[in-house]
Amino acid sequence: MTTGPVGEPAPADPEPLADADEHHDGAAIPALRLLRNAYVLVAVAGLGFFLLSFLALAVWPNQTLDKEITATRPTGLPQLAANELRGRDIYGREGCLNCHSQLIRSTQDDVRRFGVPTKAWETADEFPQMWGTRRIGPDLARERGRKSRDWHFAHLWNPRSVVPDSNMPRYPWLFERRRDQAGR
Ligand code: HEC
Repeated sequence: MTTGPVGEPAPADPEPLADADEHHDGAAIPALRLLRNAYVLVAVAGLGFFLLSFLALAVWPNQTLDKEITATRPTGLPQLAANELRGRDIYGREGCLNCHSQLIRSTQDDVRRFGVPTKAWETADEFPQMWGTRRIGPDLARERGRKSRDWHFAHLWNPRSVVPDSNMPRYPWLFERRRDQAGR
């Protein structure tokens, strides 16, 4: 006690409640005896659910995906050529994937606009994958063959020269050939 009349003895602790011990007597009832080890049950159940979710959300989908890729991947595909790999680097460097996706979903609208839905094997070996998350511009997964080479050059130089209301940025520096890049 830090308050109260000076010199008075501190009041004694209150008497313990008569039934205070009853809380410990739960063990007397068989069902409650189990609960004494509740922490073991909770730990086992927690670990069990964690393992279950790991199997259901990580292991199983991965195996299914691997099987799908092996089953659908065409054999004898060529590796990407050097200039294709360089294009990929430029695509990543310039942030094209901030506006373009390369992943056609199997929804009706996507298929109508962009073509056959992307299969898992198509990007299985890509690292990092450049699926993109936004479509300010169209999906480019099936861009090949849609427009001519000249169209692409003009479009990258200045998109407005071929698509007047385009809001895609210009990329004129892609046409500069610096000495250290000679021949590239
Ligand atoms: C700020 C967003 C934005 C960025 C960044 C961007 N684009 Fe685009 N892109 C668009 C928009 C919008 C269109 C549709 C209008 C047009 O054709 O210009 C488009 C269209 C295109 C098209 C024509 C598709 C078609 O078939 O009509 C190609 C190819 C393309 N972009 C490639 C690129 C490349 C390569 C880069 C990176 C060097 C890039 N884009 C960066 C917004 C963007």
